[in-house]
Amino acid sequence: MRKPFIAGNWKMNMTHLEAIKFTQDFGYEFRNSKGCEVCLCPPFIALRSVKNIIDSDRIEVKLGAQNMHWEENGAYTGEVSPLMLSALGVEYVIIGHSERREYFFESNEVVNKKVKSAFKHNLKPIMCVGESLAIRESGRAEEFVLCQVDECLSGIEKKDIELLTIAYEPVWAIGTGKTATSGDANDMCSAIRRKIAKIYNPETADMVRIQYGGSVKPSNISELMSMSDIDGALVGGASIKLEDFTAILNF
Ligand code: 13P
Repeated sequence: MRKPFIAGNWKMNMTHLEAIKFTQDFGYEFRNSKGCEVCLCPPFIALRSVKNIIDSDRIEVKLGAQNMHWEENGAYTGEVSPLMLSALGVEYVIIGHSERREYFFESNEVVNKKVKSAFKHNLKPIMCVGESLAIRESGRAEEFVLCQVDECLSGIEKKDIELLTIAYEPVWAIGTGKTATSGDANDMCSAIRRKIAKIYNPETADMVRIQYGGSVKPSNISELMSMSDIDGALVGGASIKLEDFTAILNF
């Protein structure tokens, strides 16, 4: 049985002071009524402060980063390494978000290196895949997304895959208010699971959690969570609105 998993991707929002206030307020409001695993993914500069509040206020949430480099250290000005994230007590890391792919030119090959490096440093990757509107309209969405899954997971061992979360985020649904229908989102998540079964085996595929992301809000979360192959959500905009995020977690 897969435990539901909802993560909030704050993206490039909130100063560390705002992050402290938000996390304190969140800890006060949040009741984990659904037995769901919950993760907050603030910007790098707020990870330490958010972690301190999670620990001191005993908030039942995990900490995630939004990106990382694949090397442990070295001459990579401005980058943050998996070693640094582990040392901070970060448990999850979002890898290959469509905004990284689009604005920072991250290829499937780069995503693959980062996923491998995350596992090496005991970080659990939330690996993002998803098609653009043009690809969806051309009828090649499934082929495209499954190719992303294949290339991004190249050479990754079965024991690691069991700790992997895949986030299916159709690019056209991110920040646009347009959500994929729960049926379409579930069809893609099922196709991803079948692909994992083919690369590894059905038991492994059964353990991998697949999230949907793209304009998730209080009004659509229940329906999404009721689908057979959607195990959770990667929430953007609504995750930095306290009322919306806590409502989503009470789906
Ligand atoms: P929105 O929820 O703002 O559409 O963003 C989704 C997303 O990109 C989460 O990673």
